Amino acid sequence: MEILVTGGAGFIGSAVVRALVAAGHGVRVLDALLPVVHPSGEPGELPEGVAFQRGDVRDAGAVEQALKGVDVVCHQAAMVGLGLDLNDAPEYVGCNDLGTSVLLAAMHRTGVRGLVLAGSMVVYGEGCYRCAEHGDVAPGPRRAADLDAGQFEPPCPRCGAALQPGLVDEQAPGDPRNVYAATKLAQEHLAAAWARAAGAAVVTLRYHNVYGPGMPRDTPYAGVASLFRSALARGEAPRVFEDGGQRRDFVHVDDVAAANLAALHALGTRPPGSARAYNVGSGTVHTVGEMAAELAAAHGGPPPVVTGEYRLGDVRHITADSSRLRTELDWRPRVSFREGMAEFAGAPLRV
Ligand SMILES: NC(=O)c1ccc[n+]([C@@H]2O[C@H](COP(=O)([O-])OP(=O)(O)OC[C@H]3O[C@@H](n4cnc5c(N)ncnc54)[C@H](O)[C@@H]3O)[C@@H](O)[C@H]2O)c1
Ligand SMILES: [Zn+2]
Repeated sequence: MEILVTGGAGFIGSAVVRALVAAGHGVRVLDALLPVVHPSGEPGELPEGVAFQRGDVRDAGAVEQALKGVDVVCHQAAMVGLGLDLNDAPEYVGCNDLGTSVLLAAMHRTGVRGLVLAGSMVVYGEGCYRCAEHGDVAPGPRRAADLDAGQFEPPCPRCGAALQPGLVDEQAPGDPRNVYAATKLAQEHLAAAWARAAGAAVVTLRYHNVYGPGMPRDTPYAGVASLFRSALARGEAPRVFEDGGQRRDFVHVDDVAAANLAALHALGTRPPGSARAYNVGSGTVHTVGEMAAELAAAHGGPPPVVTGEYRLGDVRHITADSSRLRTELDWRPRVSFREGMAEFAGAPLRV
């Protein structure tokens, strides 16, 4: 297949590019090289034979040019982060939603009918919890006053009792809690609308917390594993927010790349008009505090410090049930938490 990878110069996109090339596909990359992600203005090393085009997914001309001769698109380009600064909201919506709609319209004009979309677990909000009295419940956003008081666990929205966190599956309703999350959910809706209207197929991969070599260094937009890794590189202790008990699923970037390959192969078997989502997680739950401790130990650095700080818009626990991806696309994560963190502790971050 000839595959266009948007955002192919990014952390995950470049791993996807390597996996596609290794599997024998023709690959081209369209990436705007956003300055916050690529301060050097260079795309980094791409495998031989990969055509690189610097261009923005919001630019219809650039997108049409990139789509020439392409069979399917793997859409990784997005502005990432929490969307904490509201001044960034227009740029998030521009890159992620306007950009996706420009891409979809161009795919429609050029007759490209297969899309793999990089989605995110953030679309689920707090995810899935159980109350002893009320069964499955969906807690609302946490209140700043509770967080200030160190009450980090969201209570049952009906009776206020303590809750048991569970695994969220793909049927869970969307419940975005920050600007970034809202744009990731909108991307999915746009792609589904395109698939129906164009008789096309989209597979969305809702990634959990992705980590691994090539992760961007410390920026306000970086993931937590990168923040900890950057602190350790400076000889400092990782600073863990809340009480460190936030549950997550850390999935290695090579496993995410393999999921993209599986999804691209599956596109050909999908009926016209179809949209299907898959959670992409390792299947192993860890807390943010455990991750910090594992990374610090593997790096030989100072142990983490729990600060009690918080970011409004963060969710307390979110962990995926990734069994759909295993059963339908025959995907298995290959990198364990311990191995992956040991490697990541020594691997260079991207500058
Ligand atoms: N890293 C994670 O843990 C994680 C988790 C869930 C979902 N995702 C999703 O995975 C995808 C890749 O994320 P990443 O972590 O590799 O981020 P990244 O910032 O390393 O890569 C994104 C790439 O997209 C490019 N880009 C951004 N806006 C663009 C635009 N308007 N036009 C063209 N290129 C543009 C950037 O220059 C960058 O190279 C994103 O869609 C993100 O939402 C990432
Ligand atoms: Zn209850």
